[in-house]
Amino acid sequence: MLEIDILAVVPGLLEGPFSHSMMQRAKDRNLLKVRIVDLRQYGFGNYKQIDDTAFGGGAGMVLMAQPIADAIRELQSDRPYDEIIYLTPDGTTLNQSMANQLSLKSRLLLICGHYKGIDQRIREKFVTMEISIGDYVLSGGELAAAVLVDAIGRLIPGVLNDGSSALTDSFQDNLLAPPVYTRPAEWEGMKVPDILLSGHEAKIDEWRYQQSIERTTERRPDLLSEE
Ligand code: 6GU
Repeated sequence: MLEIDILAVVPGLLEGPFSHSMMQRAKDRNLLKVRIVDLRQYGFGNYKQIDDTAFGGGAGMVLMAQPIADAIRELQSDRPYDEIIYLTPDGTTLNQSMANQLSLKSRLLLICGHYKGIDQRIREKFVTMEISIGDYVLSGGELAAAVLVDAIGRLIPGVLNDGSSALTDSFQDNLLAPPVYTRPAEWEGMKVPDILLSGHEAKIDEWRYQQSIERTTERRPDLLSEE
């Protein structure tokens, strides 16, 4: 069982993604538990304030240290987290190998930033990993957290119906996946490659491997030089 808690500023953004398909199955099978926590409940005063202007000036608000620290301390009082992950565009870019490693953990906390981010002192005091999902800026970390939970969740053994399929994904071996086809064997004059209809398993594997190499060379040569 992997437990993932998500500290969110806009929890509503996370209502949909975990209630369908693979995610719902993971929850139904007791392989994954996702808990969404609203940072606002740790805010100050009648307005439940969670942000303030940045020292030094400039546009945009910064999430204050205290509400986040209060939330983290309360959440980890049951059981410590394996990792406390801050989702931020200046983090390490997520890749398959990171998802693989995180799927082996048992308890994660994801912190979603907003506005100009969170007070640096929270990053220094609590955060153990900082993850970005790519080189573009989202308005907050929630959608990035949903992406991360999806990438991790589908790797938990027993979540996918076909136990082998996560291992043959694009990226699992730093190669893009080969093209796929299903019935009919001819559609609008376009034929499925003969080899796939031949029944020769070894030859089919070889063809798929060659297609993977070709696709990767053409589209993502950078992957071929990764460790
Ligand atoms: Cl993790 N957060 C935000 N706000 N923007 C992003 C991101 C994360 N990853 C890529 N862009």
